[in-house]
Amino acid sequence: MRKKIVAGNWKMNTTVPEGIALAKAVAEKAAQTPEKVDLIVAAPFTHLALLAPVLEGSKVQLSAQNCADHTSGAYTGEVSVDMLKSTGCTWTILGHSERRQYYGETDEKLVEKTRLALEAGLDVILCVGENLSEREAGEHFHVVTDQISSVLFHFSAEQMKHIVVAYEPVWAIGTGKTATAQQAEEIHACIREVLGSHFGLQVAEDTTILYGGSCKPSNAAELFAQKDIDGGLIGGASLKADDFIAIAMAWQSV
Ligand code: PGA
Repeated sequence: MRKKIVAGNWKMNTTVPEGIALAKAVAEKAAQTPEKVDLIVAAPFTHLALLAPVLEGSKVQLSAQNCADHTSGAYTGEVSVDMLKSTGCTWTILGHSERRQYYGETDEKLVEKTRLALEAGLDVILCVGENLSEREAGEHFHVVTDQISSVLFHFSAEQMKHIVVAYEPVWAIGTGKTATAQQAEEIHACIREVLGSHFGLQVAEDTTILYGGSCKPSNAAELFAQKDIDGGLIGGASLKADDFIAIAMAWQSV
């Protein structure tokens, strides 16, 4: 059975004290959530070392939102996978559309970052998704298939055990416009098929695929009820502990 995950992407939000308070609140409430769902919070770099002890002993795992594409050295402003690992975090998000769009993150860079993260022992949430003009041109299946194959086909079936895919249609991120459960499901099914064609049925069946883009307590259950949707990557709604936990609770009814 593949893992069910609800992950919060805090993005560039919260000061350190605010982040600690939010993590505390999430950790306290996490015990109420169904056992089958894993919880992750992806916090800013500055918070990670301080959040690790706050989350210890709870079911909430800690993630970064990005990592450097080099191991160490003269790369001012970058944060390496070993640095991340040394904070106590165990995951990193890679390839978020905001990084692709604003920071020139290419599939080539993502191959390198994913390789470094896995080698350091970090698990990866790899984000993919089409933008509005690609969706309107009917290219969404093609765009997502291409993003998946360009990055993930560089890795082995064994390495895929440490990679989660997040499908996030760019037009649904932070806009309040959620993809319908059916729109999300058909892309998730397509991603699973693409993984199956390359890695075989077992990897396709075992890979957790999350939906992200205006996921909230009111629509989570319908999304999570879809056959190929294994949880959510939550932006805005992860900044309120009650909303984030309510989204995780949606697994109770599924
Ligand atoms: P959102 O963001 O939930 O605020 O739409 C999701 C994401 O970008 O990960």
